[in-house]
Amino acid sequence: MILTVTDPCRPLPMALDASRPLEVEVGCGKGRFLTARAAAHPEADFLGIERMLGRVHSFDEKCRRLKLSNAHVLRLEALYTFWYLLPAHGVRTVYVFFPDPWPKKKHHSHRLFGPLFLKALWKRLTEGGRIEFATDHEEYFRFVTEECFPSSAAFRRVEPMARGPESWTEFETRFRGQGLPIFSAAWEACAGDDYELEPMKVAPEDEPREGIPRRIGKRYVEDVEDSAQ
Ligand SMILES: C[S@@+](CC[C@H](N)C(=O)[O-])C[C@H]1O[C@@H](n2cnc3c(N)ncnc32)[C@H](O)[C@@H]1O
Repeated sequence: MILTVTDPCRPLPMALDASRPLEVEVGCGKGRFLTARAAAHPEADFLGIERMLGRVHSFDEKCRRLKLSNAHVLRLEALYTFWYLLPAHGVRTVYVFFPDPWPKKKHHSHRLFGPLFLKALWKRLTEGGRIEFATDHEEYFRFVTEECFPSSAAFRRVEPMARGPESWTEFETRFRGQGLPIFSAAWEACAGDDYELEPMKVAPEDEPREGIPRRIGKRYVEDVEDSAQ
């Protein structure tokens, strides 16, 4: 089912039972991984976040074909969704598989992984909740595992989950078919002092006009850092 957001600053009005575990996939594409997982785990709920409309519709079609009532997809920007819309400490597992690596240095600020995402991620995960990460891009993998997560005391590195071909994503299936190496890592959220996420400030030129603003990341980082001083 495609979810619609009725209030962009309130937690999702999802028809979900808070007592059921919730798992979230960032950039879920057409939903190959998440729909397979939802079919195998009827006791839990699954939410895909994806900004490309065609992929959101493909995800939804898969849900209908498989008659899944526990899989949902939201067409929205991932960092925004984590910052504002997911329930506090309500997510059991977050999956980030093959995120756009933004390989050029001048584009690194567009990457999902960074201090803001980790701050929102910890706020959304249950204590001991996990984040699973996989990529074919070795430099991005090194950045995430050697710089990004080690700079935060809120996460402990753990063994990534084992995934067979039935739970590969679309991109993963293609990359593995080409014989490319795949890098995987996982972390769990440690116990810690809770905090509120302050509202993000958006520069006037980044206000949404048509579609979804693309220029996120660095500007938000700077704004939030400025407001914290
Ligand atoms: C390289 S594809 C990988 C798709 C899927 N995870 C897979 O492995 O087959 C990255 C996906 O993330 C989506 N995406 C990238 N940045 C996003 C963001 N900030 N918010 C939501 N979706 C995003 C893209 O539209 C794209 O579908």
